Amino acid sequence: MLTDNHGRKISYLRLAVTDRCNLRCFYCMPEEGLNWLSRTELLTYEEMLRICSLLVKMGIEKIRITGGEPFVRKDLMHLLRGLSQLQGLTELTITTNGVLTGPFVRELKDIGVRSVNLSLDTLDPIRFFSITCRDEFSKVMETLNQLMKHDIEVKINAVVMDGKNTQDILPMVELTRELPVSVRFIEEMPFNGEGHHYDGLKWDYVRILEEIKNAYPAIQKLHDDASSTSYNYHIPGHRGNVGIIAAYSRTFCGTCNRIRITPDGVLKTCLYDEGVINIKDLVRSGISDDDLQKKLLDTFGNRPADGWEAERNRNIGDPAHESMATIGG
Ligand code: 5AD
Ligand code: SF4
Repeated sequence: MLTDNHGRKISYLRLAVTDRCNLRCFYCMPEEGLNWLSRTELLTYEEMLRICSLLVKMGIEKIRITGGEPFVRKDLMHLLRGLSQLQGLTELTITTNGVLTGPFVRELKDIGVRSVNLSLDTLDPIRFFSITCRDEFSKVMETLNQLMKHDIEVKINAVVMDGKNTQDILPMVELTRELPVSVRFIEEMPFNGEGHHYDGLKWDYVRILEEIKNAYPAIQKLHDDASSTSYNYHIPGHRGNVGIIAAYSRTFCGTCNRIRITPDGVLKTCLYDEGVINIKDLVRSGISDDDLQKKLLDTFGNRPADGWEAERNRNIGDPAHESMATIGG
């Protein structure tokens, strides 16, 4: 088993395959986009497969593909097919905004993807446009349909933003009445690529829960897995569940089992750190698997205890200038 210096199991890799995205969610990146990485700055699929293969041998059991939007990278299925062959990997999942995903759902099912996280912050097409700057709501809903049809477990991730979509909280909870999906509300984090318009968290997990409890007093707490980042609930009579993720309040660091690789090949052992080693440079310098493994173990042995410590350790300014698209959502 792979563990860190705080005795936490490390078993979950979030691999970001691109920083690019076909939406412009205002809490993630500015309308003009980011300073996109060039092709040579990105890890190639072959490099990713080598790194993942080693990490799986070392103890990683679950890989989530993120971005940016993974499906804007050419031939993503090639990578997914490769990953799905790794011995020892028990779970392969994707986080997607659903715009381009629909046509691939059947193949995802075929290669063994059992669960997909769909980022969707509103059920209203007008608000969708105001949040994402793109008129793609119907494609996302079509993807949701396809996922349901193919019996893939769906978690809908909704970032709760004061003044933007708090009126969507209850309709999105209501979605769980008929659909067997998990709707998870996420506290907004400061990573929006701009370093402004984040003036403190207005809707923390406590307030989100209050809002839901007022409308659904019979709501019940579910048992949460040890490494779960969400507090999970069930409303009697509903087919799906509701979750709340305290992404800003960072209540879950004590059981964090996850590491991240950014699209440009930097390893992060915490969402709030600034990147701890550049795996891409090591791989391109011809490092052997044994030496890479040593470097990785060394890094896991120096993990900050929580997101607050990771943030204090940063040298390169506050996290607001980053985007989830460059750190791997
Ligand atoms: N705060 C909270 N969640 C965010 N995401 C992207 N940016 C932020 C932010 N600033 C979420 C997306 C997606 C996941 C990858 O990260 O909505 O669900
Ligand atoms: Fe794209 Fe996701 Fe960022 Fe929205 S949050 S702009 S869907 S990467």
